[in-house]
Amino acid sequence: TPVVVLISGTGSTLAALLEAGAHPDCPYEIVGVIADKEAAGLAHARAAGVPTAVVRLADHADRAAWDRALAEAVAGFSPRLVVLAGFMKLLGAPLLEAHPGRIINTHPALLPSFPGAHGVRDALAHGVKVTGATVIEVDAGVDTGRILAQVAVEVHEDDTEATLHERIKQAEQPLLVDVVRRLTAANRTEQEPIA
Ligand code: GRF
Repeated sequence: TPVVVLISGTGSTLAALLEAGAHPDCPYEIVGVIADKEAAGLAHARAAGVPTAVVRLADHADRAAWDRALAEAVAGFSPRLVVLAGFMKLLGAPLLEAHPGRIINTHPALLPSFPGAHGVRDALAHGVKVTGATVIEVDAGVDTGRILAQVAVEVHEDDTEATLHERIKQAEQPLLVDVVRRLTAANRTEQEPIA
């Protein structure tokens, strides 16, 4: 089952997806990785021989043109599922409408708490004792989509944003891999929504 992954960052989540996807019994195959900049994580895709593309906002006339270019780049790989793995931009209508119910995202907090770009920092600042990660179906809002899976992670007294985010990633990556496996394993008809 073809899967496209979108990234903006270091790509440790992508690396976990690639590693699981490389097993012969895995129901999905990562057929393309797209970034919105020259993200460090693209190296994981290149090392695995997976085609990559970079679609920069700055290379397009406006946001709408970038939205269309991103949707075209994704469509070029004909994915069954699109996975946002640390992709830091909101998706526009062209991409959302092309893959209804077939785009998922992972967020490093227990939604609906601490949505947005700083979920780890915000949870730490609030003083919660337990946070975690959430895999959601993507809609037009900021981390508002239907929740598909969650995992809880303890906050330690001496945690910094970096140590807490690292502990969250240890739980988040297997959770995401599991959801992607589940969503691609079943024999589904083309138009049927995921999950
Ligand atoms: C993940 O924790 C993801 O939830 C968040 O950014 C992180 C991505 O890290 N949005 P990486 O680039 O995969 O290492």
